[in-house]
Amino acid sequence: MPLPPYRIKVVEPIPFLSPEERAGALHLAGYNPFNLRADQITIDLLSDSGTGATSAAQEAAAAVGDESYAGARSWFRFLDEVADLTGYPHILPVHQGRAGERILFGTLLRPGQICVSNTHFDTTHANVELAGAEARDLPCPEALDLDSHEPFKGNIDLTALAELLAGPDGERVGLVLMTITNNGLGAQPVSMANLQAVHALCRQHGVPFFLDAARFAENAWLVREREPEYHGWTPREIARQAFDLADGCVISLKKDGLASIGGCIGLRDDDLHARCEANLIATEGFSTYGGLAGHDLERLAVGLREVVDPAYLSARAAATTHLAQLINEAGVDTVQPAGIHALYLNAGRLLPHLSPAEFPGHSLGCQLFLDGGVRCAELGSLYLGTMDEQHRLVTPAPFELVRLAIPRRVYSQEHFEYVAETLAGIAKDPERITGYRIVSTPPILRHFKVRLAPLP
Ligand code: F0G
Repeated sequence: MPLPPYRIKVVEPIPFLSPEERAGALHLAGYNPFNLRADQITIDLLSDSGTGATSAAQEAAAAVGDESYAGARSWFRFLDEVADLTGYPHILPVHQGRAGERILFGTLLRPGQICVSNTHFDTTHANVELAGAEARDLPCPEALDLDSHEPFKGNIDLTALAELLAGPDGERVGLVLMTITNNGLGAQPVSMANLQAVHALCRQHGVPFFLDAARFAENAWLVREREPEYHGWTPREIARQAFDLADGCVISLKKDGLASIGGCIGLRDDDLHARCEANLIATEGFSTYGGLAGHDLERLAVGLREVVDPAYLSARAAATTHLAQLINEAGVDTVQPAGIHALYLNAGRLLPHLSPAEFPGHSLGCQLFLDGGVRCAELGSLYLGTMDEQHRLVTPAPFELVRLAIPRRVYSQEHFEYVAETLAGIAKDPERITGYRIVSTPPILRHFKVRLAPLP
């Protein structure tokens, strides 16, 4: 197995609660892991966003962060890195990805238009709809077979995209947004061939093509591993080619920026840039900081170099694949093949005694916390299903999954073994696990604030 190209310099203690304390904590949290306190969690796999460890070089850079209101040195360091990486002539900083989405979609999309994607991430979907447009997902058919080992299950369905663009709704398509890697569908990568074809279709129909590039480096690594033409390319070269194909991007830099906060918009079009910049200044901050502190910009400038290091990416990819093997050996299926930033457990298959309306993914997630203090997120009917006014499930999600997101440079192999052992314990006697019912839900983005209760 490739060794991580770093050693640990600063550590943070992790809590170990008793099973009784965890049961009490989950009850008080309304059985929603988002309501748990971090000091109740032993291994936190809720998100890979903003949860990574920074390097000594990043912290050294942060110490010389320039906090000037306008034109700070730190801004120019950040700008040089992002412009060199992406090649876009206009870069706007934002405090995180969804702020970039709000500004870009609010400026680019008109009410009634359609934004098409391989799969919109949840906040991305919400921001498209808040702009009055429709978010439409066209994942490739291979993505729907969770067990298949097809290398690029993150791709968009090109036939469906071509039909949409040429058909009666084609006029309404205001944007094609490719999410790399496809976080909503199993952390699967998008091939360069798919991006090239999307680029050609968008050119043909005069539709803007953007990347949601939160995991641009991890996508590049998987392209290098799985798409023969790109063997031997550096991750940076592959990422650059992806950016070259698009008219612009939104990036949450909380992932492959290797920092706890940050994001950016990259643009080619001068007029779109001027309009986004006006919105940015009114809502996020001046266009040389965009809601970020100088020390954040410094950490990001260094992080964006470190993240494309092949030694780092190969060790991270191998660690995730290894965890998938341990989990599969424990008798729990995961979406295949393993991606990099997260593993997706097939809860529907592990808990066939629970119907989608009893939220098997949520049950499995809760059990991981109750048994091992492991926090993760449901990606099933609780997150994606449609409900009636009494919170009863009307349309289930296509799959009942649980996402184990892997923070960058944080957990060691022993931590992963512990997670797999906890799952093995659950897989030995899955029938003891009961379902859940919804007690109350918020108007949008249900999973963040929903409260539940266990079924008897
Ligand atoms: N796009 C993708 C593909 C994402 O995964 C995320 C965030 C965003 C946009 C929004 O970025 O959080 O900086 O505002 N994903 C996190 C996750 C939250 O856990 O997957 P943000």
